[in-house]
Amino acid sequence: MNILDLPTKIHDESRQGEAYAPVAQETALFSKKFYIESYGCQMNFSDSEIVAAILHQEGFGATKQFEEASLILLNTCSIREKAEQTIRKRLTEFRKTKEKKPELLIGILGCMAERLKAKLLEEEKLVDIVVGPDAYRSLPALIAEAETGQKAVNVLLSREETYADIAPIRLDSNGVTAFVSIMRGCNNMCSFCVVPFTRGRERSRNADSIVAEVEDLFRRGYREVTLLGQNVDSYHWLNEADNTSVNFAQLLEKVALVNPLLRVRFSTSHPKDITDDVLYIMAKYKNICQYIHLPIQSGNSRILQLMNRTYSREWYLAKVDRIKEIMPDCSISTDIITGFCTETEAEHQDTLSAMEYAQYDYAYMFFYSERPGTLAAKRFTDNVPEAVKKRRLQEIINLQNELSKKSYMNDVGKSFEVLIEGESKKDNLYWKGRNPQNKMLVFPKKQFNYKPGDYVNVLVHDATQATLLGEIIPA
Ligand code: SAH
Ligand code: SF4
Ligand code: F3S
Repeated sequence: MNILDLPTKIHDESRQGEAYAPVAQETALFSKKFYIESYGCQMNFSDSEIVAAILHQEGFGATKQFEEASLILLNTCSIREKAEQTIRKRLTEFRKTKEKKPELLIGILGCMAERLKAKLLEEEKLVDIVVGPDAYRSLPALIAEAETGQKAVNVLLSREETYADIAPIRLDSNGVTAFVSIMRGCNNMCSFCVVPFTRGRERSRNADSIVAEVEDLFRRGYREVTLLGQNVDSYHWLNEADNTSVNFAQLLEKVALVNPLLRVRFSTSHPKDITDDVLYIMAKYKNICQYIHLPIQSGNSRILQLMNRTYSREWYLAKVDRIKEIMPDCSISTDIITGFCTETEAEHQDTLSAMEYAQYDYAYMFFYSERPGTLAAKRFTDNVPEAVKKRRLQEIINLQNELSKKSYMNDVGKSFEVLIEGESKKDNLYWKGRNPQNKMLVFPKKQFNYKPGDYVNVLVHDATQATLLGEIIPA
């Protein structure tokens, strides 16, 4: 994998850009099997769980072995050119499998399906089925069409679809943490971003269905939910039955009240929309984790304006101050794009100094990749040379590595409440779990009888750049 196109792995829970195979659920009961790989953001991983539920009803069971599947699906991402290249390569590989097994159906879902529409099917003949993010309910019909050799495409975007009534089938789950989609689409028009085109208009999911899903997860032993949306702070659901509405702060409170033993996280916040109300609700409930992902993109106001982010450097940094004022222990992470059109060396320095100011605990860092059809592609020239982009990105990564190290070292000697998520990958005598600030802790199980889903207090005695090492404090 190319480090320059992927977020550096500051925390190992990120599944950005990685493929995953689902846990096979009762596959023996199903005559037909599907295999799904997901790429991109958490929304895609969450959508794959909706797709799994739709296919389940049609008699398809999930499998981890693509060789035994009669249907292979790729849930794709278009955010950067590199993301699409990775998927094309994967499709070519699956194409070879199909040559040996002609009855195999290959489907492309998600953002790349939406962006390229029938092109993948007609010109490149890479797939049999193309389905956009709002059209998953039509998958069974499309599969039936494809089985008869017809072209099966549905890339209609919707103003209403939220899949509110579909209970997702949890794929690859640790049984402790789950994602819950609360809204779809995005109404912002950040000039670099393809998401408004691939995901359509913003719409919020029925709050009652969100709370019901969270309650069900809690009953089934889950102890942490992450509320998902491209811009969660603009969540706004109008209950037509009684003409009342629910905003994000209110939704957060409703979810926090499901049970004090259920941790609540959310992602992503747009700096312009996160309100004091949200911050106060976070501060009020101990089970809402003190962690905010607050993408800055650039630390320079001129670039921010070209990016159409609708805030300035000063406004953003004041928001960081406000968060720290209301929640001194809140951790903050960010996304940064370097080398945006016309970015000068001095403007790049502004990004570095903003990072210093904000003291991010971690960050996802990218260089600008022009996306066809976006405002930036239409209006500006992608004129920062690749070598300059890469050098600037490296400087940003180096600085973030220092900031992360400082942030993690700063936790040595402190104790945290940790939700056990499972065994450490490296050593099954150790547990792993996160603290409210979203940092991963690893600690020996010792003689204690804890299990995943339990809370423990852990005293930190050492830190690497991405993990805190500690010992359980006996209760
Ligand atoms: N909705 C989220 C971001 C979703 S995309 C938000 O508003 O913060 C995740 C990240 O990918 C963005 O925050 C941005 O940093 C990065 N990104 C988006 N478009 C990009 C592009 N054209 N080139 C490089 N990085 C991009
Ligand atoms: Fe893209 Fe901006 Fe919407 Fe995030 S808020 S998805 S960056 S347009
Ligand atoms: Fe990628 Fe679509 Fe998410 S473009 S980042 S999968 S919304």
